[in-house]
Amino acid sequence: MKALILSGGKGTRLRPLTYTGAKQLVPVANKPILWYGIEAIAKAGITDIGIIISPETGEEIKTVTGNGENFGAQITYILQSEPLGLAHAVKTAADFLQTSPFVMYLGDNLIQDDLEQFLDHFQAKSLDSLILLRRVPNPSAFGVATVDDQGKVLALVEKPEHPPSNLALVGLYFFAPTIHQAIANIEPSARGELEITDAIQYLISHGYGVESLQLEGWWLDTGKKDDLLAANQIILDSLVEKNIQGTVDEQSKISGRVTIGPHSQIINSVIRGPVAIGSNCHLENCFIGPYSSIADGVKIRDADLEHSVVLQGASIVAIQQRIVDSVIGKNAKIFPAPCRPQALRFLIGNDSQVELIGPSSYPQD
Ligand code: TTP
Repeated sequence: MKALILSGGKGTRLRPLTYTGAKQLVPVANKPILWYGIEAIAKAGITDIGIIISPETGEEIKTVTGNGENFGAQITYILQSEPLGLAHAVKTAADFLQTSPFVMYLGDNLIQDDLEQFLDHFQAKSLDSLILLRRVPNPSAFGVATVDDQGKVLALVEKPEHPPSNLALVGLYFFAPTIHQAIANIEPSARGELEITDAIQYLISHGYGVESLQLEGWWLDTGKKDDLLAANQIILDSLVEKNIQGTVDEQSKISGRVTIGPHSQIINSVIRGPVAIGSNCHLENCFIGPYSSIADGVKIRDADLEHSVVLQGASIVAIQQRIVDSVIGKNAKIFPAPCRPQALRFLIGNDSQVELIGPSSYPQD
């Protein structure tokens, strides 16, 4: 059994962050999203892992993630020259996959359930494909399945206008090598991509064994800002334990589950968990509220922040209003005018969002 993690793609929904970095490397609770998937796969005993990368962000993913040693696995990087679809990614990985069955995992997804139970079902029933489903309120945004009461998949359709059910396809699939034959027989969709749903539909239409199981736990697709913040909240809630390695002065108050990495300094600040703070950070005269992830090398002084993700090397200085529901990119700087501001001055990248919230649109505490 092998694993294929898809960590290429365009990432248009998470611009501007994805202009300069891989969305799969955005840290949630100080760990890149991608690593949660690698860990879940290795925990299920699958150690031969291929990772699909793009020309734009592949080198960064390789450098940060390494050869797999840290995960007890062996990682092979596979370059997909263009993001031409999930089934195209499988085609690109043909030399790596050979005739092995494999689990395919979308590198920007987070799944709470352990993989072992699904792997056991896939292997015990010698299926051609096992797909995972979850009920969602907005199925039109996903691949949608119709299943019988035994979980046998009857039909699949990608982002339907009139969804036949509310069962969305989760970013985790199990395949026998018959999937390669299915992919060889499909054409690109209207959006120009080789769709994995079309390949699975081919298996169904040609009488191959395709079954589904429903996820019990949470499933998060971190491809958009609000989903990323939701993922950050759930991961911090479920995984973070108190662990303080940096220094905290006597004027500071830390409550709840808070992690602080080595060489970070907390001065005259209040931190209310769950919060994860990386290494080499400097936080002074701050309030850091629940559900905040602060990456390595961040500086925050005279500022309040909650329910936000701050990436490496960012600095936030002397901001009077509380910063909420925000994702702040690597090395970004937020700082005030030296006196009471009469104008706002920006240098903001393409596709950035700046929201100035008035008292009626944000509840005051
Ligand atoms: P998506 O989030 O569906 O696609 P995307 O990354 O291009 O993002 P957007 O829709 O915002 O433009 O992809 C799911 C995962 O699969 C993600 O980790 C990227 C990866 N992927 C590939 O590796 N190759 C591909 O050809 C595609 C389409 C996605």
